[in-house]
Amino acid sequence: MKIALDGPAGAGKSTVAKALAKKLDIMYLDTGAMYRAVALYMLDNGITVDQKDKVEEALKHIDLVVKYEDGMQKMYLAGKDVSLRIRENAVSKAASDFSALQPVRVFLVKMQQETAQKNDCILDGRDIGTFVLPDADFKFFLTADSSERAKRRAKELAEKGQIVDVLQIQKEIEQRDYNDSHREFAPLKQAEDAVLVDSTFMTVDEVITFVSNVIEGK
Ligand code: DC
Repeated sequence: MKIALDGPAGAGKSTVAKALAKKLDIMYLDTGAMYRAVALYMLDNGITVDQKDKVEEALKHIDLVVKYEDGMQKMYLAGKDVSLRIRENAVSKAASDFSALQPVRVFLVKMQQETAQKNDCILDGRDIGTFVLPDADFKFFLTADSSERAKRRAKELAEKGQIVDVLQIQKEIEQRDYNDSHREFAPLKQAEDAVLVDSTFMTVDEVITFVSNVIEGK
């Protein structure tokens, strides 16, 4: 079984995907983490998004591995666990920028399709239903108002002790949505055959129940 779960930043895709993977006993692949790891590699090597040749060269040398430890997806670069570093704000912005480059996408989409070929899985991202797994058994497009997504993100950060400006977060989220949906190659878009789930007024549990019911044909 292949499930595609797409949507904009902060819509709760990873929470829903993790819960579903557990419930259905299938693998979960967070494809955003892969774009983040590539972006971190470029940042660490001083490569900027306008240096297309250097980006292509770097992709030949990058040692990027996805591992699962205690059921959690971990990203490794050259043998080092970078799972925490890829969540930094600068990396979020860089991931959105580098993900617009076709060679980056071709490189990662190949890894994603190989993983999906070998396993029953749920992939979350931006282009899973439209590009990576166009024949997925189920496709969902999970979204919410940007103000609500910013509020949820601010709450998450506050729980970790970080005080943040909600309006600033909303601005950053909207900028990433714009970048991700206006790039030329495989942009963020709802697949025609995807089920739209607007979670603005839904709890996480309600979203999980709704999506599970669709999959179970209820
Ligand atoms: O889901 P995320 O916020 O971790 O994703 C980080 C960035 O990676 C996002 O701004 C766009 C890009 N991305 C993408 O272009 N395609 C995907 N399938 C997943 C993420």
